[in-house]
Amino acid sequence: MPTESRDDAFPPVRLLSPADLDLCVALSIDRGWLPEKAKWSLLLAGSQTFGIDAPDGRGLAGAVVLTRWAADYASVGMMLVASRYQRRGLGKALMEHLLAAAGAGATVTLFATDMGRPLYEKLGFKPVRRNVSFVGKFKPGRVPAALPGTVRTATAADLPAILEADRAAFGADRGHILGRLPGFADRIAILDDPAHGITGYAAAWRNHVTSTVIGPLVAADQEAAKRLVAHLAAGVTTTVRLDLDPDREGLPGWANAHGLEPAASTLVMAHGEIVPRGTPERLFAPISVALA
Ligand SMILES: CC(C)(COP(=O)(O)OP(=O)(O)OC[C@H]1O[C@@H](n2cnc3c(N)ncnc32)[C@H](O)[C@@H]1OP(=O)(O)O)[C@@H](O)C(=O)NCCC(=O)NCCS
Repeated sequence: MPTESRDDAFPPVRLLSPADLDLCVALSIDRGWLPEKAKWSLLLAGSQTFGIDAPDGRGLAGAVVLTRWAADYASVGMMLVASRYQRRGLGKALMEHLLAAAGAGATVTLFATDMGRPLYEKLGFKPVRRNVSFVGKFKPGRVPAALPGTVRTATAADLPAILEADRAAFGADRGHILGRLPGFADRIAILDDPAHGITGYAAAWRNHVTSTVIGPLVAADQEAAKRLVAHLAAGVTTTVRLDLDPDREGLPGWANAHGLEPAASTLVMAHGEIVPRGTPERLFAPISVALA
């Protein structure tokens, strides 16, 4: 909804649809982000994207994506305002619209860039933890022997067990997004343990011709997480990007030792109360920083 601080010449916030894909891609490019057409397609299909049309008729003036995980839990991604319209209240208006759509009692999380942080702080978001993107050509290393279970590429038949493992870790149902992973990701790997079934999984998806993101990464422990990353990265010819908590022991140092360097850093922030859910120590990397 328009706010008093906003220029009245802007049209109201509208819900975008898959037909707006090219406009969203153009907005990413305008802000110097990767076009990420496949990711935008996923978000436009599985999430709610709000946008404001540019009064000059040149596409979108701004957009933001809301992904709902439960009645009281959601995340935000792709908060973008076209450079020619920045600092005119559009970011604030889009985020206020999103928070109203998420519901008054909902916890809403996001990965804040340095540029987005002042706006989020003003709206009451609080810091939760740091996030760093580790990026580079993955250098395979020695594979530890005799660990329980087998890492293998997932098939369609594994999806229900993947969703179950994810729900136990995340504490809410991400099925409406994860169900689209087989079409979106290049490869999904699972850790199949004869005693406990599928205890972890990870996906590799292209966010650019030269870059592959590994995420989500859900595993019972660090060693399992490393095995899943190594399995997926072995088949990747581009650079690899892995988003990790740099303050958590183990995986960041291991990723670094395998050729992935700390690149961009963001701050995970939350609006509303942080309610304990799932088994957070099993969550090693988000699906995407635009999701959770
Ligand atoms: C972050 C972004 C969405 C902000 O949109 P915007 O429309 O320019 O923000 P608003 O005009 O609504 O700003 C609202 C308030 O937030 C704060 N704010 C916004 N951008 C700021 C900046 N760059 N520096 C300091 N404060 C800022 C200010 O308090 C501002 O109020 P003011 O202009 O009255 O001082 C926009 O700069 C952008 O698209 N950046 C590039 C992409 C990006 O990093 N997105 C965030 C992803 S997490």
